[in-house]
Amino acid sequence: MRMIDLRSDTATRPTPAMREAMARAEVGDDVLGEDPTVRDLEEETARIVGKEAALFVSSGTMGNQLAIATQTRPGDEVVGGEGAHPVLYESAAGAALSGVQFQVAGRGGFFNADDLEASVQPPQYWHPRTSLVALENTHNRAGGRVWPAQMAVAVAERAHALGLSVHLDGARIWNGSVASGIDVATMCLPFDTVSVCFSKGLGAPVGSAFCGSRAAVEQARRFRKRWGGGMRQVGILAAGALYALAHHRARLADDHANARALAEGLAKTQRARVEVQGVETNIVNIDVQASAQAVSAKARTMGVLLQATGPSRLRAVTHLDVSRTDIETAVELLGRAISSARGE
Ligand SMILES: Cc1ncc(COP(=O)(O)O)c(C=O)c1O
Repeated sequence: MRMIDLRSDTATRPTPAMREAMARAEVGDDVLGEDPTVRDLEEETARIVGKEAALFVSSGTMGNQLAIATQTRPGDEVVGGEGAHPVLYESAAGAALSGVQFQVAGRGGFFNADDLEASVQPPQYWHPRTSLVALENTHNRAGGRVWPAQMAVAVAERAHALGLSVHLDGARIWNGSVASGIDVATMCLPFDTVSVCFSKGLGAPVGSAFCGSRAAVEQARRFRKRWGGGMRQVGILAAGALYALAHHRARLADDHANARALAEGLAKTQRARVEVQGVETNIVNIDVQASAQAVSAKARTMGVLLQATGPSRLRAVTHLDVSRTDIETAVELLGRAISSARGE
């Protein structure tokens, strides 16, 4: 049975054309700075993001952790929104690798400049020193919502006025840009450092980038090596990412339309609640009057994979390998899965 995989936009397989580009990639030893395809990818990413330099890294987690390592000292505090990736989903790497702790600002993933200021510690030596603020755009746990542009600018300005550095976890900044119509560089402008992922909506098999000033990237290069992330003929992977940047950005609008169609279909389903207006990009949160685990298990037997993210909440994510027909099938099957799972 072919599965319709809505668990994450990381589930994509490289397309034949992407595989072809990867197979043809010119390579060299990237630890020695001699991989031409990696250099091309880093230059192209820095250009799109609007920063001086970029560093190809293995994952979004490494990108975020490089931001923390380069902009904090052990014992510092990092402010992030509720449900932020480095706070919840990076195996406590901030504590383990950089010796920082986290403070959550606002509710629901977003926060304004006053929320930020309220979460910054007073200067007495017995408090942790707040040194970095991280925003996530689009916000995964908040259902792929895009940060209101003015609010992001105001938070970054206040952070700088308070002497803090500002990082953007832009794993899905490509989706945010397509949805808002604002170009990626403008969205990244208020931030000192930015991490972006090629392996989510863009459909590359592996890879992310850490972007910032040339000095920040050179400092990050040392951490990447220290953490075992110095890769050799990695141009094969960089070629997939370059292909994705060139060919898979504009089509994200299709994923967004598919997510909206899924949300609208499920909103009509009994015992399911979806905030259709909140579906701005490719992520749909579905609240069900049933056990989310039971719905997910039932859906799996019918050929639809999605994640239970709470006792009664499921998450579905659209991507390159999900067509409009798949969405229509998924709406029908999920409707049945929800009604049959309800008393369990
Ligand atoms: C918002 C966000 N940031 C960072 C990451 C980490 O990416 P990776 O899985 O490549 O470490 C993810 C992964 O899903 C994410 O959703």
